[in-house]
Amino acid sequence: MFTNEALVLQSERLHIRPFNPTDARLVGRILRDPMIIFWHKKRMSWRLLRLGIRNSMKMNKWGLGWWLIFSKEDKNTLIGVLLLQPLDDTNEIEIGYHLRRDQWGKGYATEAAGRLLEHGFTKIGLNHICAVALPYNHRSISVIEKLGLTLSKNTLHRGLAHRYFKLNRNDYLARRQASS
Ligand SMILES: CC(C)(COP(=O)(O)OP(=O)(O)OC[C@H]1O[C@@H](n2cnc3c(N)ncnc32)[C@H](O)[C@@H]1OP(=O)(O)O)[C@@H](O)C(=O)NCCC(=O)NCCS
Repeated sequence: MFTNEALVLQSERLHIRPFNPTDARLVGRILRDPMIIFWHKKRMSWRLLRLGIRNSMKMNKWGLGWWLIFSKEDKNTLIGVLLLQPLDDTNEIEIGYHLRRDQWGKGYATEAAGRLLEHGFTKIGLNHICAVALPYNHRSISVIEKLGLTLSKNTLHRGLAHRYFKLNRNDYLARRQASS
């Protein structure tokens, strides 16, 4: 069982905290932006967004859910959102990230997701973590590969062809030990 405090994560430049019920406006700046969520035909409704926040908070007790990413230097600067949650229709846990457009190209996605991988493997004790990306989403695939996940198959995700990547805990721990 995880407390909310245990889900507040820090990395070199980032302060990462789980969603709370009053985050709709902040979350909307990311998840309702068609430049960020470019594969959705329709902008997410506020009703669905609020439901998503509530659902993400229900996962917190298992150490999972959605997080907001802020700059450590200025805690009012929203950078993006981060997620660790069950992949649709499977028991696997996927990692994901969506950053504000003006925060791309600074290494923040890789830094934040790297911190969340550590949480997933060492605090929750997950056996493996996966990620899915559209084949043409090169920026996302680049982040996934920098994190050490490897391409294992092509898959259908929410009706669209996706690349599916995976990292096992033992490989993660071995790589971490080798680089320390
Ligand atoms: C996918 C997404 C999160 C990637 O963000 P990003 O900023 O490109 O990824 P990173 O955080 O790894 O940053 C990488 C870039 O930062 C640069 N960078 C600058 N300063 C850096 C630093 N201090 N450390 C590391 N990299 C740094 C790198 O050189 C790299 O640039 P390049 O890709 O042009 O070579 C972002 O494009 C996004 O939000 N897209 C829309 C939503 C989306 O697609 N989500 C994923 C769905 S599967």
